[in-house]
Amino acid sequence: MAQKILVNGGTGYIGSHTVVELINEGFETFIIDNLSNSSADVIEQIEKITGTKPGFEVFDLTDLHKLGLFFEENPGIDAIIHFAASKAVGESVEKPLLYYRNNLVSLMNLIECQLKFDVPNIVFSSSCTVYGQPDKLPVTETTPRKDAESPYANTKRMNEDILKDSIHAYPQLKGIALRYFNPIGAHPSALIGELPLGVPQNLVPFITQAAAGLRGELKVFGDDYNTSDGSAVRDYINVVDLAKAHVVAINRLLNKKNKENFEVFNLGTGNGYSVLEIVKGFEKATGVKLNYKIVDRRAGDIEKIWADTTYANEELGWKAETGLEETLLSAWNWEKKVRGI
Ligand code: WQD
Repeated sequence: MAQKILVNGGTGYIGSHTVVELINEGFETFIIDNLSNSSADVIEQIEKITGTKPGFEVFDLTDLHKLGLFFEENPGIDAIIHFAASKAVGESVEKPLLYYRNNLVSLMNLIECQLKFDVPNIVFSSSCTVYGQPDKLPVTETTPRKDAESPYANTKRMNEDILKDSIHAYPQLKGIALRYFNPIGAHPSALIGELPLGVPQNLVPFITQAAAGLRGELKVFGDDYNTSDGSAVRDYINVVDLAKAHVVAINRLLNKKNKENFEVFNLGTGNGYSVLEIVKGFEKATGVKLNYKIVDRRAGDIEKIWADTTYANEELGWKAETGLEETLLSAWNWEKKVRGI
């Protein structure tokens, strides 16, 4: 009997790629999503890629009654991966209450249900944004977290603490927080990928939409940072590599390999690339010329961050494998498929 994994936010960008890898690993999967930032079409694409259709229900995790009914009607869940959250940094500054309510209440409802229905294992989607601008690079899991630069970042930090404190109070719970650096790219099939609603806030989806002619020139937010070419540096990680790390984390909990009841892992590549290096890498990988102009820095941006991946590599036995240009090409192939180019 296949073990059953609940994936909250499973029709989203990272969630859908993770469901594919869970199915490939032999797990039975069930998705809950409110479709606030994704489409139900993803279910069909997951089935095309894997030959298996995940279970699927549409409702909002802030509705504790509905979530309780779900657990009553779906006994035998072995572990949960919690992706479901609002995640646009800029929007969170404009709508803080939406972000605090959605991101915090969803997780608290979930933990209440874990306790009530005895579903102890949870993998939580966190973010390197909890580090703010680190004083020392690369960032390790013990690098002090800094005051958040946005309500979005604050919800990630607060949710880590909610999970940690709940696990401390209820030791039957076991949790792993995965701090993503910058997820980019798409599944090699080009059947799933990143499809932000509206004007993309993130760099790579803006680049691919600009390359597809949907956007004007790329605005590079600042070239006066203390970096090799003045543009800001991030650790860009392939989304399939990131998805595979979730399968490793789930197996760690299910096989009781976790060393602590609450663990944290950085998921990055260990390499930092500047915005202009990403532009050049995209042009080299795809042969598509990008028009861009340097503008002022974006409020809330940090200068540079990249991960020390030693702990995840050694403790999880996981490493990001896919190179930058292959990843940028996968993003472009996805964009072309979506736009029928
Ligand atoms: C990357 C770099 C921008 C757009 C955020 C969240 C993080 C995660 C990913 C959810 C920065 C520059 C961007 C553009 C640009 N969110 N840029 N022109 O801000 O590092 O991380 O999104 O999982 O938690 O904090 O990602 O892609 O927005 O920006 O110059 O049009 O690209 O200034 O230096 P960010 P990003």
